[in-house]
Amino acid sequence: MLLYETPIKLELIGRTLYKDGKPLSYTSRTVSEMADVLIDSKKAFPDGPAYHMYRDVFLWGSLRYDVTVIPPRMYGDEYAKTYGHYHAEAKKGLTYPELYQILSGEGTFIMQRLSKDDRFDCIFVKCKKGDVIFIPPNYGHVLVNTNPNSPLVSCNVVSNSFSADYSGYKENHGAAYYCTKDGLTQNMNCLVGRTETLTPKATLERCKLEIGDLLEEISSNPDKLKFLEDPSLLSA
Ligand SMILES: [Fe+2]
Repeated sequence: MLLYETPIKLELIGRTLYKDGKPLSYTSRTVSEMADVLIDSKKAFPDGPAYHMYRDVFLWGSLRYDVTVIPPRMYGDEYAKTYGHYHAEAKKGLTYPELYQILSGEGTFIMQRLSKDDRFDCIFVKCKKGDVIFIPPNYGHVLVNTNPNSPLVSCNVVSNSFSADYSGYKENHGAAYYCTKDGLTQNMNCLVGRTETLTPKATLERCKLEIGDLLEEISSNPDKLKFLEDPSLLSA
């Protein structure tokens, strides 16, 4: 699957991502590691890779461009997904935000933020090839591959200044919602506050962001992405 010709050639063949013809190293999360966050956590699913992460495909300053591939599969009635994580605090009260783009396939983001009354406010975003999605400060996120017949390939640009925190998702056995064949199903380990469904474009517009193709932006217009290091630059 040819993802880009320029400014770098990116091609995904099997589970190997080639950058200008050279294979990149990657890490995989296994199905057994996912057991903690599945709706059907007690059921044993055939082990193997659940998804693959290619870090530092492109670097600019302290920002990095990664690619993630979620192969098509189901865990019973639940769609394949990432584990889910939160980011560290970048400025007082604001964690590092992130930008994603869908390079192939279709999916749903489940974002969540713990409100003052200990409930999760959730944002659901359906997305497909070409869409750019903004993860605002303080929101954890899971990406779900909602097409069981094709891989979901996404890229993201984020600060390199922290490590993702997976513990909140482990503790609650997943996000506040699971994405199943029957739709979104609430995780009863989580109290839920406000929920809303946004388009990818609306996630950008809320913070008055105009962001195009992420590889293009980070390679030719990186100053525009400074808010990823300093979220206090964002419009409320
Ligand atoms: Fe993230």
